Amino acid sequence: MRRPLIAGNWKMNLTREQSRNLATAIAMDANTSRADVVLCPPAIYLETVLETARSIRTVGNEFGIGAQNVYDKPNGAFTGEISTAMLEDLGIGYVILGHSERRQFMHESDDVVNAKLNTVLASSLTPIVCVGETLEEREAGRTLEVVGRQFEGAFAGVSEGLASRAILAYEPVWAIGTGKTATPEQAQEVHHDLRKLAVLRYNSALGDSLRILYGGSVKADNAAELLSQADIDGALVGGASLQADTFLRIIAAAR
Ligand code: 13P
Repeated sequence: MRRPLIAGNWKMNLTREQSRNLATAIAMDANTSRADVVLCPPAIYLETVLETARSIRTVGNEFGIGAQNVYDKPNGAFTGEISTAMLEDLGIGYVILGHSERRQFMHESDDVVNAKLNTVLASSLTPIVCVGETLEEREAGRTLEVVGRQFEGAFAGVSEGLASRAILAYEPVWAIGTGKTATPEQAQEVHHDLRKLAVLRYNSALGDSLRILYGGSVKADNAAELLSQADIDGALVGGASLQADTFLRIIAAAR
């Protein structure tokens, strides 16, 4: 019922030529019959990746291009920032919000994520909202409290109609770039809790249809098991999305 989505977050990696080559290889061979696929290159390469993909296949929801971040104001004196209108102008369909690296290094609070989510939901872009606990928080038994706070913070004041357009991503901070994947059971438990939170906050229809992606050291050889969990609806892939063959194998692992 929930269509899987496999997103590649390229983070701050690759050159323009490498981006073009990677986008070419994935656009040529990605099978979107069972899963949506989204590529999220650095902002400066969005247009290159979009044009490259468009020269090979239709770009839209099933094969989309996403930004890694956006600002919450429509325009104006905000040096270095990019607006939703600019992303729409290019033809970008998705945007990642509240990634733990932005929370950690750019000091994005739940309030900032909330402002950005409201702005994105007022546009045509589909947000991928990230939540996740640190190792310290998990070891202190605070996982649900932390992801719950991030979820409620991000969706504060967001109506059901708009929230139904959002995608969630559970990315335990301790599993990102560390090679330490959450076990399928650990990930499933948090995904299930997040879905329950969505049901409580909105209703069961929204909870049932909400796509929740897992992120954190997803690789070609662990993707199938993670994706087979009842509440895991896709993957947000970092390192393994930088090589076409591994990313294509992850796409192929989707149910
Ligand atoms: P890795 O797959 O490199 O652990 O990164 C996950 C991530 O942060 C995706 O947004």
